[in-house]
Amino acid sequence: MDRRRFFAAGAGLGSALIAGSLLPDTTVLAQTLPNSRKESLMPNAQRGAGRKTRMFITGSADGLGHAAAKTLLADGHEVVVHVRSQARMPAVKELVDQGAIATIGDLSDLAQIRDLARQVNDIGRMDAVIHNAGIISGPQVLVVNVVAPYLLTALVQRPRRLIYLSSSMHRGGRASLSGMDWTGRTSTGSYSDSKLFVTALTAAVARLWPDVYSNAVDPGWVPTRMGGAGAPDDLRLGHLTQEWLATSDDREALTSGGYWHHQRRQEPHPAVNDIRFQDLLLAELARATGTKLA
Ligand SMILES: NC(=O)c1ccc[n+]([C@@H]2O[C@H](COP(=O)([O-])OP(=O)(O)OC[C@H]3O[C@@H](n4cnc5c(N)ncnc54)[C@H](OP(=O)(O)O)[C@@H]3O)[C@@H](O)[C@H]2O)c1
Repeated sequence: MDRRRFFAAGAGLGSALIAGSLLPDTTVLAQTLPNSRKESLMPNAQRGAGRKTRMFITGSADGLGHAAAKTLLADGHEVVVHVRSQARMPAVKELVDQGAIATIGDLSDLAQIRDLARQVNDIGRMDAVIHNAGIISGPQVLVVNVVAPYLLTALVQRPRRLIYLSSSMHRGGRASLSGMDWTGRTSTGSYSDSKLFVTALTAAVARLWPDVYSNAVDPGWVPTRMGGAGAPDDLRLGHLTQEWLATSDDREALTSGGYWHHQRRQEPHPAVNDIRFQDLLLAELARATGTKLA
């Protein structure tokens, strides 16, 4: 069945899918994927991947981060979840009850991002980090969507795999860094700008750290709080690629510098792989945070 028709039939089920009570039949989803990719929809036991992975997922209180944490925990991985404040802890209670470790930090506040990195490092070295948290608008869009993943990348003990949430909207971003306010006090960059920058950051990390698999993911337009209940794409496929890049030993998952959509590499905005633009971005972020990417 065509994936879009499958989800048109399920229109309005977005929030129920997030709650996990109406998870789509993986066999139906699997019919829409090439053979080599079907097995990543299967539970770990079925796909024979016995190795457990320890991972940190930012923004696990809701949406794609929460869904990825839930799936990875169910697959038997060790998951470190993250919420913005103590008041958001109830959002991850079910995950913590299942063994997840919780961390806290508001990603719009540099001191709290640094403290979050310390909490993660105190737990131990992660195998993978999924930089998932994001906001769509407001003066803090550059801090949460770009500065936080940059600073966490610089400060969290280097994992083997790094995954950054991008968006197809990064293609509408401006490849210009002039006048950007990285402090979150004034609205300068747009959501599209922020996703272009974080995708360029992903590619820069892939270039500078050859021992790490660094990849960006466009999850599609999916029915989360950010995407809205009417979002047309498939929620399960919206977090599958991150999970696959974080855990799979598939040859394609063990590559770096990719911009992925539904487990397929796509060509990003040309600025993403422009080394001069990457270096300017890293210099701006180092200046704004006082922390260099070592
Ligand atoms: N949904 C889509 O269609 C879509 C499309 C393309 C890309 N994406 C990207 O996918 C990622 C996840 O999006 P989503 O749809 O799951 O969004 P969402 O449902 O709005 O969830 C965002 C998550 O990030 C957390 N977060 C936001 N600001 C934070 C802050 N200052 N400190 C700590 N945590 C913060 C939120 O915590 P609270 O719940 O406490 O606010 C929440 O857990 C984002 O990077 C987004 O840009 C989404």
